[in-house]
Amino acid sequence: MPAAMERTLSIIKPDAVAKSMTGPIIEKIEGAGLKPIAMRMLHLTQAQAEAFYAVHRERPFFSSLVKFMTSGPVVVSALEGEDAIRRYRDLMGATNPEEAAEGTLRRLFAANIEQYAVHGSDASETARQEISFVFRELEGVERS
Ligand code: CMP
Repeated sequence: MPAAMERTLSIIKPDAVAKSMTGPIIEKIEGAGLKPIAMRMLHLTQAQAEAFYAVHRERPFFSSLVKFMTSGPVVVSALEGEDAIRRYRDLMGATNPEEAAEGTLRRLFAANIEQYAVHGSDASETARQEISFVFRELEGVERS
């Protein structure tokens, strides 16, 4: 049975945008067969970052995560493909960049767990919530 078509949210984080790594990261995403259907650059406000990461509110790194995510612009994209959530997570690599496999985005572009280069949704419900958080309905395009 073919894998289901899915959508996932990708964020190219402030560290990678500041290092002009947006292009190389998008090249890897497209090279992996994931298709952007919506994309834009934005600078999250503190309130937006706190809302986006609300599930991590109680974690010790929450305030530093929000500070980092509001430190500069990010590039958000909705990616479409079969099994897109798992495939994008595989492309990003392990949570700890030092343990991420050769060729993964975190191995290539993340300095550490905070200067993390990329974010990807972790499950289909989160993907739906995260995509609607940053894109209005109908903002995406049809891809063949
Ligand atoms: P992201 O995938 O965007 O979602 C949660 C973020 O929390 C994650 O990226 C990390 O950058 C951050 N994070 C997770 N664990 C830690 C940690 N121990 N210290 C600092 N940041 C963390």
